[in-house]
Amino acid sequence: MYHKYDAVVVGAGGAGLMAALQLVGKANVACITKLYPSRSHTGAAQGGICAALGNTEEDHWEWHMFDTVKGGDYLTDQDAAEVLARDAVERIIEMEHMGLPFNRTPEGKIDQRRFGGHTRNYGEGPVRRSCFAADRTGHMILQTLYQQGIKENVTFYNEFHVMDLLINNGRCVGVTAMEVKTGELHTFHTKAVIFATGGYGRAWRVTSNAHACTGDGMAVAYRAGIPLMDMEMYQFHPTGLYRIGILLSEAARGEGGILRNGNGERFCERYAPTLKDLAPRDMVSRFIAQEIREGRGAGPNKDFVYLHVDHLGKEVIDSKLPDITDFARTYLHVEPYTEGVPIQPTAHYAMGGIPTNIDGEVILDEKSTVLPGCYAAGEVACVSVHGANRLGTNSLVDLVVFGKRAGLKAAEYVQKNDWESLPAHHETRSNELLGFVNAGANDTRRTEIAGDIRKELQNKMQDWVSIVRNDTSLNNMMTKLSELRERYGRLRLQDTGNKFNTERLEALELGALLECAEATTKGALERKESRGAQYRDDYENRDDVNFLAHTMAYRAENGGVKELRYKPVVITRFQPKERKY
Ligand code: FUM
Repeated sequence: MYHKYDAVVVGAGGAGLMAALQLVGKANVACITKLYPSRSHTGAAQGGICAALGNTEEDHWEWHMFDTVKGGDYLTDQDAAEVLARDAVERIIEMEHMGLPFNRTPEGKIDQRRFGGHTRNYGEGPVRRSCFAADRTGHMILQTLYQQGIKENVTFYNEFHVMDLLINNGRCVGVTAMEVKTGELHTFHTKAVIFATGGYGRAWRVTSNAHACTGDGMAVAYRAGIPLMDMEMYQFHPTGLYRIGILLSEAARGEGGILRNGNGERFCERYAPTLKDLAPRDMVSRFIAQEIREGRGAGPNKDFVYLHVDHLGKEVIDSKLPDITDFARTYLHVEPYTEGVPIQPTAHYAMGGIPTNIDGEVILDEKSTVLPGCYAAGEVACVSVHGANRLGTNSLVDLVVFGKRAGLKAAEYVQKNDWESLPAHHETRSNELLGFVNAGANDTRRTEIAGDIRKELQNKMQDWVSIVRNDTSLNNMMTKLSELRERYGRLRLQDTGNKFNTERLEALELGALLECAEATTKGALERKESRGAQYRDDYENRDDVNFLAHTMAYRAENGGVKELRYKPVVITRFQPKERKY
């Protein structure tokens, strides 16, 4: 089926909705999404969205910018960090005016809380910078933006899985997508595509990410010749529910919660004397890993630590942390009013992704050559505003700041440019991919089940491309990925129907996860240093001489990483220094 829109947004979370809202009234826009918009993973974000409003204590956007750069271990592009910190303030007010129900101070201002790595006066101590709606901030943002989308008559194609990016004469001209209900392929002919499809946390076993976070947008772009940037920079959030991975917001520590090891010791103060439990996530996750590795974990296997909020009192817990304390009761049967909650680090956020400039335009190389008509924003994109490690609550603000900028830039582009035709045989690649997954049903040589391959991928990524890595673990993963890719070639679907064939969808998603996992592992293997989320016990130091640069991974025609190139980091105000907290 053929559709024609001036602009197509792929993904309907915070970034996609914010982008779509900039196009209404200026262009004919459609938003296609694998889920229903209100199911997007933005809704799982809990603790807050930061902006230097200074509502409860002194704050400045320059301090926010500095924290973002230092938190990112100086891999952050500083032009992007400046945009983020400056624009954050306006975006919060804009959403407040849309009706977003933020928590309030007694005077009626938007309330703000502490979060890891956010400091006053360039690192002196924690600052209250994160605006919040209890511990369901992402949910509120998603509902607010979706309501605006409905009000503005954005056309939504719900449950459409993106298959391919169409490029003709050097311009982006559309996407194809499979309708999950029917299995039918649709072509969306357009002048501008905006990717806002989120991350790929489902490549790991213990993750805070929803089942839908399978890197589809990254894989589609990568297969179409766009590099993936800084994929080795994958964040583990310190506090996931033990073994399950569901997020327990950093807001718990922002409100005064603390971590204790199996000996009851508040260990973070040993590692980060100033910020303690509120050091950046890469560090706190490493502190936990070290406590466990050195035998100070809790439980019979000494493989978790405790998050304590019991000393905060019932009123703070119920008014500011109601959801996460309920998760602890429901899934682990512990009572946070009176006891510590078992936690472990959980795969949480991709700092890397589709490379863009600060206007959300997708770039193709280390010289920042733009692919006309192609945009990306949110977790799928790498601006790079988070560098090697994102600070908590900088993701929601990234969605709305860069979602808006990408939408505005796309609107300008579609108004100025004429239509470009679709490439000949524009459905071929998608049909070949669909043909491949479907064909397995009739081929007795094909015996592999997608779920088995996915489980193996997740287990090995958890073991080998985790908080601590080294040459051996990363080489093991590269070998494993070749084996998994070969097994994927022998995939067999058991469900051969066309209607809501979720097995087929999962097979397609697995293909995307394998692409993302390989770019991640290869980038980590070749980056022979430790920086932010990339911690290698065989190269323990940061190496600014050789690796103060973004990794760009290019895909080989038949899969796998063909080549890595390096792009210089943009440094404007803050020269790289040792990170101390
Ligand atoms: O801990 C949290 O609430 C997560 C926030 C974030 O990832 O920004």
